[in-house]
Amino acid sequence: MVKILAIETSCDETAIALVEGAGERVILHSSVVRSQVDVHAAYGGVVPDIAAREHMELLMPMLHKAKADGYFEGLDAIAVTAGPGLAPALRVGVGAAKGLAWSLGLPLVPVCHLEGHIYASWLRKDDQAPAFPLLALIVSGGHTEIVLMKGHGQFERLGETLDDAAGEAFDKVAKMLELGYPGGPKVDALAKLGNKEAYAFPRPMEKSGDFLFSFSGIKTSVLYTLRALSDAKALTEEAKANVAASFEEAVVDILIKKTMAAVRKVNPASVVLAGGVAANKNLRMRLGDACVAEGVPFFLPEFQYSMDNAAMIAVAGYFRFLQGAAVDPEKVFPDPNLDIV
Ligand code: KG4
Ligand code: ZN
Repeated sequence: MVKILAIETSCDETAIALVEGAGERVILHSSVVRSQVDVHAAYGGVVPDIAAREHMELLMPMLHKAKADGYFEGLDAIAVTAGPGLAPALRVGVGAAKGLAWSLGLPLVPVCHLEGHIYASWLRKDDQAPAFPLLALIVSGGHTEIVLMKGHGQFERLGETLDDAAGEAFDKVAKMLELGYPGGPKVDALAKLGNKEAYAFPRPMEKSGDFLFSFSGIKTSVLYTLRALSDAKALTEEAKANVAASFEEAVVDILIKKTMAAVRKVNPASVVLAGGVAANKNLRMRLGDACVAEGVPFFLPEFQYSMDNAAMIAVAGYFRFLQGAAVDPEKVFPDPNLDIV
């Protein structure tokens, strides 16, 4: 068995986790996540330096407890999110991981956060894991990508967003609707109360014949609609819910259309939904339905592993460890722009 302790501090969640694996089987022993949402809410978004300060405060007690619980015993390596993410936030996790690995005489495995999001689908109660080649739709606060994963560590990007990430669009529309931060879950909740056909927001790049996305046009269209409603003194709670529902429908529509077009092109053995926006109920359901209709197995992370966590980094770190990616801690540095390929 290979035992990996992982640290994740790329954005506003401080997290550590412990996994043990043998071959294709990985067992999660512990996953602790502390969200900083309350701290950043006052600023309407994540403030990188404040995130770093919070990671500093939260991480050490978590590691103390992990040690007291015996989690440092028998470790084969430490895994850490090296990027992408906020530079000051990444530095805290990578710095801590380097110090810990060095003091325990262990190697360090740098992990790509996006790769981690894909591996969240390995954290299942049953023994099933997504089969390769798998097609992943990664939708987070900073990224929107369609990635073909041919095997562990083998990635090919088929498409990505040309402007905003899907999660970013949710966050910006939440701000326009004055729902506060974090925006995605609030738009998700409000959309449930609205009529998704009330407004015909655009579906940018719908017929572009590639796997590229653009979300800034939808966002601008929402802004103009809200302005017109406000000028006409018609920006009621009902109208806001209709805007949220129609916006969500436009984003989900385009995500599903492009993903299913990619499925038809590459004929994968499974489809994986990954990233924070994978928590969106409409997206989870509709992509699942589309995969059933296409006859391709669909995997999505449990709700708690959709959002940032260290369990997914530990699983990714485990498979990277098997590929020989564990290195001297001195060689690992944070890379805010790290990408999956
Ligand atoms: O993966 P994640 O936790 O952090 C990054 O790696 O960026 O993703 C966060 C993003 C945010 O933009 C957030 O608004 C969005 O995921 N999100 C959602 C939902 N929950 C989180 N977007 C839509 N619906 C949700 N339920
Ligand atoms: Zn993330």
